[in-house]
Amino acid sequence: MADLKVNILGIQFPNPIWTAAGPGGASADKLLEAARGGAGALVSKTISQKPARVPIPNISLPFPGSLINAELWSEVDYHRFLEEEFPRARVAGIPIIASVGYSPEDLSVLGKQLNEKDLVDAVEFSIHYVGKDISNLIKTAEALRTVFDGPVLAKFSPSISEIRSAVKALDPLVDGFVAINSVGPALDFDIYTRRPLMGSGDGRGWLSGRAILPIGLHFVATIAMETDKPVIGVGGIRTVEDVIKYIMAGASAVQVCSLAVLKGQQVYGQLAEQLSRWMDKNGYTGVSDLRAAFLKREKKPLYYYGDGTQLYPEIVYEKCRFCDMCVNACIHGAIQFENKIYDLDRNKCVSCGLCVSVCPWNALSMTEYP
Ligand SMILES: Cc1cc2nc3c(=O)[nH]c(=O)nc-3n(C[C@H](O)[C@H](O)[C@H](O)COP(=O)(O)O)c2cc1C
Repeated sequence: MADLKVNILGIQFPNPIWTAAGPGGASADKLLEAARGGAGALVSKTISQKPARVPIPNISLPFPGSLINAELWSEVDYHRFLEEEFPRARVAGIPIIASVGYSPEDLSVLGKQLNEKDLVDAVEFSIHYVGKDISNLIKTAEALRTVFDGPVLAKFSPSISEIRSAVKALDPLVDGFVAINSVGPALDFDIYTRRPLMGSGDGRGWLSGRAILPIGLHFVATIAMETDKPVIGVGGIRTVEDVIKYIMAGASAVQVCSLAVLKGQQVYGQLAEQLSRWMDKNGYTGVSDLRAAFLKREKKPLYYYGDGTQLYPEIVYEKCRFCDMCVNACIHGAIQFENKIYDLDRNKCVSCGLCVSVCPWNALSMTEYP
């Protein structure tokens, strides 16, 4: 059996599939439920000095697999988290990470108390409401670093445009990175009532789940190329393949939020089991063998439309079921099947590759033609 144990910053985790700050970490009860569901670590909902006043409704499903939420941070008084929720969650016996936010003053107060009470194994601070200004990020990280002796992780929001500069600036102050928070602001509404799905005043919320996976992967790969410190991937995980993508993009572990909200907190253990089976089947013995495999890939030459050597979609007949998905997805009308014979019009084909991507049978691949 593949070994799912990971050691990150001197902490031993039973597996790399953790909860993410959100409803799954809203209380000790929820954290304990996540532990029973097989999570490799328990990350709390973000606590702050001032409890959030959360509008209702605050979570909706704009399309399958994705959520818009306006949950802000924890509405629980932080004293209660420190005195009751974290101590009760401790009995789970797996690492606990406190998510904290947002101002330098918030982080000084919370970080100091978390340090004194020795309640958690690490702290993750969210920059979601801190903004993009790098000097503010530094002040925030410094405030926590000064008072908390254990590992400090910086959780990035996708609103950061200068990812590499932000990593460089924070690297000396933090022990690792988490990416990404939900994307937005985002809006959706009912066309008949004209009511937004979110009860927030302006109807805005934040997008998470399936739709944001490629953005999360981009952040993780970019951060992992900039630092040797651990990166924890989060955003859009739905399947074990998504977990593998994050680890191959450079993540040491992943967090899961929307999937657990939609399907229940047993998803962490299910993903862990599937990861172990996938690793066995594909010859990986430990998570570190997978880590950053994408970043270490063999770089292929670049091809450009109109240059000498061109790539065209080539068919493998044994795999094709003649479902016409490629025909329908070709806006250029370059693909036809005449009596089950594949006919590609290279004068029309612009080598965009969409047909390869939509084929459910892996029957097409981009092949070099001089
Ligand atoms: C309902 C909900 C509440 C969330 N609350 C928090 C929070 O308190 N703090 C935080 O840093 N991120 C919060 N998030 C963001 C998640 O931790 C995560 O970064 C994001 O949803 C992307 O992961 P996912 O696609 O697996 O949901 C929340 C997300 C959702 C859906």
